[in-house]
Amino acid sequence: MKKITIAIDGFSSTGKSTLAKQLAKHLGYVYVDTGAMYRAVAYFAMDNGYINEESFDKETLINALPDINLKFQFNPELGFAEMFLNEVNVEKEIRTIEVSKFVSRVAEVSEVRAKLVEQQQQMGKDKAIVMDGRDIGTVVFPDAELKIFMTASAETRAQRRFDELQAKGDDVSYEEVLKNVQERDYIDSHREDSPLVIADDAIEIDNSYLTREEQFTAVLELIEEVT
Ligand code: C5P
Repeated sequence: MKKITIAIDGFSSTGKSTLAKQLAKHLGYVYVDTGAMYRAVAYFAMDNGYINEESFDKETLINALPDINLKFQFNPELGFAEMFLNEVNVEKEIRTIEVSKFVSRVAEVSEVRAKLVEQQQQMGKDKAIVMDGRDIGTVVFPDAELKIFMTASAETRAQRRFDELQAKGDDVSYEEVLKNVQERDYIDSHREDSPLVIADDAIEIDNSYLTREEQFTAVLELIEEVT
């Protein structure tokens, strides 16, 4: 079976990472969650006071980019890689609703995107990779052999994210999560640099009414067609 690049894009909380992890495990591929990279930069900006509800000091963040070192480290107990920011595991910190509120504004900055895209392309240079995000099939790997674009209704997605946050003990309301999902989708699809759009050759999957297994089986069939 030839090694390929699998690009998974789509709106927030469509289950991209769940599918990507399942596929990577099944195929023995590397999985890269590019959202975690943007989240880590947003967390760095928040932690250093460059962004808050009132202001965003883009220039200072851009100047600080060389000081941001992002690394994925595989955790065999969890079965996937965790995000390290300047050698510190920030996996918990980057998944909060606070980071979700600022991440799309940080992801609009072209200099941030250029740095992360370069690192992502480097990680995928030998193929055998499943990468999920918003611009993987359009910008990071326009030549990927398989491109999936995932959608589901905003309510279905917000409910999933709400359940996840509640399970972790985050004190957040469903309405707050729905608002965040809708706001991020809007900013991500309307930004100037690398907006979230469906690549011409991507296959769209609406998983509002699909089980995880149905979705997984459908994508495995698509993989067989291209390998
Ligand atoms: O995938 P996740 O929801 O964790 O991504 C968080 C945010 O990071 C997105 O809402 C988007 O603003 C940004 N992002 C991006 N490009 C990617 C991955 C994520 O702009 N490839």
